[in-house]
Amino acid sequence: MTPLHRNSFRMKRVALRRRARHISVVLVVLVCATVGIWTWDTAPSSAFLPPQSRFLKLQTEEEVRRIPSGLNTETKGSYSSATPFVNKAETKEDSTIEQVEHEVVSEPKHGKTPTSRENKLQQVKREVAIRKDQTTKTTHIKETHSDPERTKQFVAKKDDVSTSTARFPNQACNYAKGKWVVDNHRPLYSGSHCKQWLASMWACRLMQRTDFAFERLRWQPKDCSMEEFEGSKFLTRMKNRTLAFVGDSLGRQQFQSMMCMITGGKERPDVLDVGPEFGFITPEGGGRPNGWAYRFPETNTTVLYHWSSTLCDIQPLNISDPLTEHAMHLDRPPAFLRQYLHKINVLVMNTGHHWNRGKLNGNRWVMHVNGVPNADKKLAALGNAKNFTIHSTVSWVSSQLPRHPGLKAFYRSLSPRHFVGGEWNTGGSCNNTTPMSIGKEVLQEESSDYSAGHAVKGTGVKLLDITALSHIRDEGHISRFSLSASKGVQDCLHWCLPGVPDTWNEMLFAMI
Ligand SMILES: *[C@@H]1O[C@H](CO)[C@@H](O)[C@H](O)[C@H]1NC(C)=O
Ligand SMILES: *[C@@H]1O[C@H](CO)[C@@H](O)[C@H](O)[C@H]1NC(C)=O
Ligand SMILES: *[C@@H]1O[C@H](CO)[C@@H](O)[C@H](O)[C@H]1NC(C)=O
Ligand SMILES: *[C@@H]1O[C@H](CO)[C@@H](O)[C@H](O)[C@H]1NC(C)=O
Ligand SMILES: *[C@@H]1O[C@H](CO)[C@@H](O)[C@H](O)[C@H]1NC(C)=O
Repeated sequence: MTPLHRNSFRMKRVALRRRARHISVVLVVLVCATVGIWTWDTAPSSAFLPPQSRFLKLQTEEEVRRIPSGLNTETKGSYSSATPFVNKAETKEDSTIEQVEHEVVSEPKHGKTPTSRENKLQQVKREVAIRKDQTTKTTHIKETHSDPERTKQFVAKKDDVSTSTARFPNQACNYAKGKWVVDNHRPLYSGSHCKQWLASMWACRLMQRTDFAFERLRWQPKDCSMEEFEGSKFLTRMKNRTLAFVGDSLGRQQFQSMMCMITGGKERPDVLDVGPEFGFITPEGGGRPNGWAYRFPETNTTVLYHWSSTLCDIQPLNISDPLTEHAMHLDRPPAFLRQYLHKINVLVMNTGHHWNRGKLNGNRWVMHVNGVPNADKKLAALGNAKNFTIHSTVSWVSSQLPRHPGLKAFYRSLSPRHFVGGEWNTGGSCNNTTPMSIGKEVLQEESSDYSAGHAVKGTGVKLLDITALSHIRDEGHISRFSLSASKGVQDCLHWCLPGVPDTWNEMLFAMI
């Protein structure tokens, strides 16, 4: 063999080997894909879910909660002196209440409007992403409730998206899809300085925590740019308007986050407490009012929060009995909404973690439907009751929209919990402090909160879909650093502020 021959022989061998390697790579990919799709079909809810994803399971009933009666009811009594700001005393009292709650708790600016061709392209990209998702064990969150029915909807929804894009250019962007990136311009306020609005129980800068990498993350939506939040821009946009958060303690976190974001965490002695205008008064005997409302005088912008843990109407059955049972009207929106909706321009509702038997029993709440005690056993199951109420309240709000042309209504999807190895009261923990260790990207089209996604479908209420993006932020909870929790009890439900709820508000800002 001449050297030339030898050389070409070697080259052929190399080429052959390459081809063989190529074929085996293709084979491996194919096998993976098949197995992936197969697993997905047979066990869609668990195939590639990190174990923590069970948070989407309906609330268990063993969680016990006791909250002072009266806290959750519409407060009666006379307005004496509104606490102008979140002062020390209020915060302290709060933490006691929240400790209870905690123990329970185990409680556009668009880049551009895509043309229809770009939409097709996006759709193809989406499908590729989905397929990639199924074949590789990447960190993308899966819908926990996938089933064949669901898949059909999923496809149908994609078509919806392209048609609705043409009609509502501002809704083209799905802000829920995207990734977390490190950004040195975060956080938007200081957790040690925003004392006026931020309760110390949520300010992780005031705790023993030493790792603050979680504060530096920014959410970057995939198919659009998200307008940078600026307090002054927010206030200008909200001139003469009112933003209302109505929901549980996670809603309250979003409210405090918003107040800190607007003010940049700076003292604002000029901001007015207008709680009494919305019926927020400190009950006699000094409990917690059932909400807070503040007004920025320069733009006449009001930001408020109303406590409604289950987003339905709660009525005492016997007003003169302090230990009375309460009718929990699953099919009626909170009285606050019926009374004040005309004063609200942007409404953000949420519920979720309070739907457990312990809390209902502790509060003496009795489910009612059509004004009478519920006799439907199926509906009495907490997951069904919760789903029913979310649907009822969302559709009631939607029905009110024509009467309130200035109103934009949002339902905020479930904020995920991250208890590992137990519940809040059985040693559950969330010890990780390293951001993005369980993932950094969300590519799914539909919300991980199936109930919320289903409830807003076909209504005028928009979904503020924060579930999947918050799910990959397991390091952002208060965890073992809680000031008020008893030893060994971790808070893997509430978030450190500044933190994840700031992102919910950035999305909200981009959507209004
Ligand atoms: C705000 O409301 C006041 C009183 O109704 C009105 O005079 C003013 O023009 C309004 N400002 C804007 C920007 O709409
Ligand atoms: C503030 O805004 C409200 C509407 O939200 C309006 O009724 C009221 O007149 C405004 N007040 C002033 C002083 O502009
Ligand atoms: C309501 O409660 C009061 C005080 O406990 C009691 O005297 C009264 O009989 C109750 N009324 C009804 C209708 O049960
Ligand atoms: C939730 O409630 C709606 C409306 O009542 C119903 O159509 C839907 O099937 C329910 N979903 C679940 C998961 O129960
Ligand atoms: C989290 O840390 C606590 C102690 O701080 C420990 O008891 C617990 O086992 C840890 N949890 C996990 C899942 O590692």
